[in-house]
Amino acid sequence: MMKTSNQIGHISVGYISAINGSLIDVKGIENHTRLHDLIKISNHNILGEVIQIYSEKVIVQCYENTSNLSLGEKVIDLEHPLSMELAPGLLGKIFDGIQRPLDDIYSQFKDNGFLKRGVELPPLSRKKKWHFIPKKHLNEKISGGDIIGIVQETSSIKHYILIPPKKFGTLTFIAEEGDYTIEDIIYKLKENGQENSFNMIQKWPVTKRRPFYKKEKATEPLITGIRVIDLLFPIAKGGTVAVPGGFGTGKTVIQQSLAKWCDADVIVFVGCGERGNEIADSLKDFEKLIDPRSGRPLLERVLIIANTSNMPVSAREASIFSGITIAEYYRDMGYDVALMADSTSRWAESLREISGLLEEMPAEEGYPAYLPSKLSSFYERAGVVQTLGTNNSEENREGSLTIIGSVSPPSGDFSEPVTATTKRFVQAFWALDARLAYAKHYPAINWLDSYSNYSEYISNWWNKKGISGDELELNWQECRNQVNEILSKENNLKNVIQLIGEENLPEDQQLELFIAKIIKEGFLIQNAFDNVDNYTDVDKLMEQIRIILLLYKEAKELLNQGIIIEEIKELKIIDDILRIGSSIPNNEISKIAKITDKLFDEIKALKHTHISMGEK
Ligand SMILES: Nc1ncnc2c1ncn2[C@@H]1O[C@H](COP(=O)(O)OP(=O)(O)O)[C@@H](O)[C@H]1O
Ligand SMILES: [Mg+2]
Repeated sequence: MMKTSNQIGHISVGYISAINGSLIDVKGIENHTRLHDLIKISNHNILGEVIQIYSEKVIVQCYENTSNLSLGEKVIDLEHPLSMELAPGLLGKIFDGIQRPLDDIYSQFKDNGFLKRGVELPPLSRKKKWHFIPKKHLNEKISGGDIIGIVQETSSIKHYILIPPKKFGTLTFIAEEGDYTIEDIIYKLKENGQENSFNMIQKWPVTKRRPFYKKEKATEPLITGIRVIDLLFPIAKGGTVAVPGGFGTGKTVIQQSLAKWCDADVIVFVGCGERGNEIADSLKDFEKLIDPRSGRPLLERVLIIANTSNMPVSAREASIFSGITIAEYYRDMGYDVALMADSTSRWAESLREISGLLEEMPAEEGYPAYLPSKLSSFYERAGVVQTLGTNNSEENREGSLTIIGSVSPPSGDFSEPVTATTKRFVQAFWALDARLAYAKHYPAINWLDSYSNYSEYISNWWNKKGISGDELELNWQECRNQVNEILSKENNLKNVIQLIGEENLPEDQQLELFIAKIIKEGFLIQNAFDNVDNYTDVDKLMEQIRIILLLYKEAKELLNQGIIIEEIKELKIIDDILRIGSSIPNNEISKIAKITDKLFDEIKALKHTHISMGEK
């Protein structure tokens, strides 16, 4: 029998026996259906998911508003769980949590900005033709993960057409190079006398992680261009990080900066249930953005899943798993993929809402007892992997999936369940601080409460990189250590200052405070909206922190020689150092060397006047 890989089996039919908000009871499919199967209310084209099965009925969570449904209406069991359609055309698109193409829907069915119920459009275009270049030959034996061919999906991303996991056989047909739709048959595999035909589409259930050959250690940093992150709280490619912060502390700005600047190949941005207009605004922003690396529209390597709070809860609940499934698919091609979820709290609230409707026994603050297992099943899908695929070197691919989830604890309290639970499953934590945000210290990452477990694993990468090469210069790890030490000394001095005042501290302690201030104002603070300051590359980052630490070293020396702290604070060059972030672009860092020269000149002059005064 000829069968395409995405065909649906026979159909079982039931009817609505009760309606309770977005939950409906369905009778007639209880003996065949499986948990998480999709169902369709055929008269309205509304989808739902089987969430409980009893002997005489099942309970279905609808993905859309259920008003106007009536008892007795026909329900079809689609007999597969919510799955993502994976094929060329994903990049640049905007989907909702159940992969409806919001961009197409908005342009075709505009209804006062709201989604019409029951709109049915395929996730990906059936008409668009893609140029397929075959990579395999007739009679080759191939299996899951092998690259059957290549489609140039956007100008920056090649889409490797992969044999779906678990499929294998002898290639009995392969399309020649040419233009095909994603539904055209492009190859056939024969196994045990049975031949199956395949097009470019793979379907994959969102709650099941896509298989890989082997997990690897995360050893490479994901460079974000945000200085406080790249130096103090780095993240590895394949790592996990949470960004908790109260309202207005800068979660969305950080997530969007990462989407724009981080050095992943593919970005999946899950906008989860934040205010409707915020999502719409940020989508418009994305459409205008230019990829700093390729000079092409950023959307060519970004895919967005958007759920506003006016969308039904279960579509919201699905969204982060839908996002991660698509992200894994690009990882399987060998790409470094980063997924940003903003905010996972809105997602957790949708879990809570569904659980409430089901009258389940709540755990902390009304969240269901399975909140931890859900969160862990999300974050554990991050990692660096050797992909499936065996035959040749091109197929020994390594891909990574990094997850950055923001959390919005009500009133900024990090002990609430979603923040506290998330903390158990992530390796880095960027704690956003309302006081810093209020003081316009952005990014408001609190350097005392934040952490990263990746620094050890990635320090080799930084050191091997041999930035600026000079043996005498501080390397990344040394800079980190010094900065941490100065900031923690500053923190320790806080109480003493309150008692006796800063000016009564010993000179060397006043120097620590002064350098801490320069680190904060001239390094940690970074304006996401300044065209130069918004992104600091690795070379500039090292030069920028080194010159501050050089000032520190020289200033200690000056104090030893009897020069007083006030004189050091008055060095003119300090202004230039503070402005490096916004005044010196990444490709002009030789200008930092000039500031260093001037620093030495001013220090020399200071010593000179000191000596000559001493002689008098
Ligand atoms: N890195 C930054 N540089 C400059 N301004 C920032 C930065 N981060 C946040 N802000 C300011 O804070 C505001 C709120 O940030 P936002 O990311 O929307 O907060 P949240 O998502 O946590 O509610 C932004 O509109 C912006 O004015
Ligand atoms: Mg936000």
